[in-house]
Amino acid sequence: MKLLLVLVSLLYYAAVNAQLSGRVGPTTTRRASKQGTVCNVLKYGGVASKTSDVGPAIASAFAACKNGGTVYVPPGEYGMSTWVSLSGGKGWAMQLDGIIYRTGSQNGNMIYIEKTSDFELYSSTSRGAIQGYGYEFHKDGKYGARIMRLSHVTDFSIHDIALVDAPQFHLTLDQCTNGELYNTVIRGGSEGGLDGVDVSGSNIWIHDVEVSNRDECITIKNTANHMLIENIYCNWSGGCAMGSLGLDIDIHHIVYNNIYTVNSNQMFMIKSNGGNGTVHDCSFTNFVGRKNAYTLDIDGHWTQLKLQPGNGVLYRDLTFQNWTATCSDGSRRAPINVVCPDGQPCYNIHIDNVNVWTESGNREYYKCANAYGSGACLKAAPGSGGANYPSYAASTVTLNATPPEMERANVEGNRAGFKTPPTMAADLTSLQLSESIPIPTVPTSFFPGATPYSTLLGH
Ligand SMILES: *[C@@H]1O[C@H](CO)[C@@H](O)[C@H](O)[C@H]1NC(C)=O
Ligand SMILES: *[C@@H]1O[C@H](CO)[C@@H](O)[C@H](O)[C@H]1NC(C)=O
Ligand SMILES: *[C@@H]1O[C@H](CO)[C@@H](O)[C@H](O)[C@H]1NC(C)=O
Repeated sequence: MKLLLVLVSLLYYAAVNAQLSGRVGPTTTRRASKQGTVCNVLKYGGVASKTSDVGPAIASAFAACKNGGTVYVPPGEYGMSTWVSLSGGKGWAMQLDGIIYRTGSQNGNMIYIEKTSDFELYSSTSRGAIQGYGYEFHKDGKYGARIMRLSHVTDFSIHDIALVDAPQFHLTLDQCTNGELYNTVIRGGSEGGLDGVDVSGSNIWIHDVEVSNRDECITIKNTANHMLIENIYCNWSGGCAMGSLGLDIDIHHIVYNNIYTVNSNQMFMIKSNGGNGTVHDCSFTNFVGRKNAYTLDIDGHWTQLKLQPGNGVLYRDLTFQNWTATCSDGSRRAPINVVCPDGQPCYNIHIDNVNVWTESGNREYYKCANAYGSGACLKAAPGSGGANYPSYAASTVTLNATPPEMERANVEGNRAGFKTPPTMAADLTSLQLSESIPIPTVPTSFFPGATPYSTLLGH
């Protein structure tokens, strides 16, 4: 029995790791890239002062160190009013031990890194940060620059930093490959358009990351495959998602595991409106949530996105397993909502041991349309004979019970699993828009009971 358990857990572990299609991270070690040239921004015209402009110094240091060196921003405070575009190079690092404060007001990306490989961005003290002072825009209902965007970067890692109060998005990984993002905290203002992490590309491991904002936590954009997203703390955020998805969608082999979501818009949402292409072979396991507006939501009629041409994005072979959560009002928004496109019913959707109860009231409902598989209100596959799945209108299942009664009633076969979800020590007060957001320290746990895969460099 014990051996069997060990085997089962080994198999499970192997399966999770098999999620990635190969190694991730820089191909040379930090030590090796440090042994190359160190280009200290203070030697390239940088001045450690909040009113200085460190942008040109970073660009010059990069030019000198982009092949085998380290661009070094030593501890201290730096202003930044000129944005940098760092293109090309190989085998380099950016060691951000200081804090960069946005002072410029143009749009675009404060730091844009593209077409480079074997790259590492980190803080050796876990204290490096970029403070975007987004509130200076948000208080007037405006947006400004994004903090950081990586495009077509391969074999890279980002870790041990804080990205704070972006005037717009915090971190975008656009068509990157073989990457690792970890031990990072993102803290933004409380409104839409301030995305935490948006990621597309292939073979990326994102783990031990906290996002507080009000928009995307860790969200998959088209196209994407072989992503492993683990130990994520979406704290007063929009929550994790895929989308919005339109034309030529090609997303597959994505695993989200150990996702803690509190006071957010959703625990997981997949959103499209029309469009075409496929999302397939993804799993969403071990989710814990509290007080989220939406919980498990596949919405093929996401009208915030203009209706796209096409019959609808096809969703197939998606598994949701082992969730424990409360939603804020389950009679208002179905905590399990699987509404697939009319022209493209989804199939092999499996919802297993997903336990949600409502914070307010004593009633909640699940809603399914054009959706086949098992669990919640999903319809079983029609007859034999493969993928001929007729559309059907929305049908709902209503649950009337408070949790202790649910445990006895065992509604839907899986209600017995409902337990009050655990909390994290620092579950929030509120987010702000009109005042500066303090730079947080990188936390040392991102999921109840889970230890990060790597210790913080600064510890
Ligand atoms: C999606 O629709 C567009 C526009 O109608 C079409 O050009 C494209 O080939 C379609 N893609 C797929 C994957 O069906
Ligand atoms: C289900 O998730 C919880 C975390 O909420 C975890 O402690 C437990 O081990 C998971 N169960 C399985 C079978 O993975
Ligand atoms: C969660 O967010 C709130 C609001 O910004 C903050 O007060 C709290 O410290 C955050 N928790 C952690 C662990 O950072």
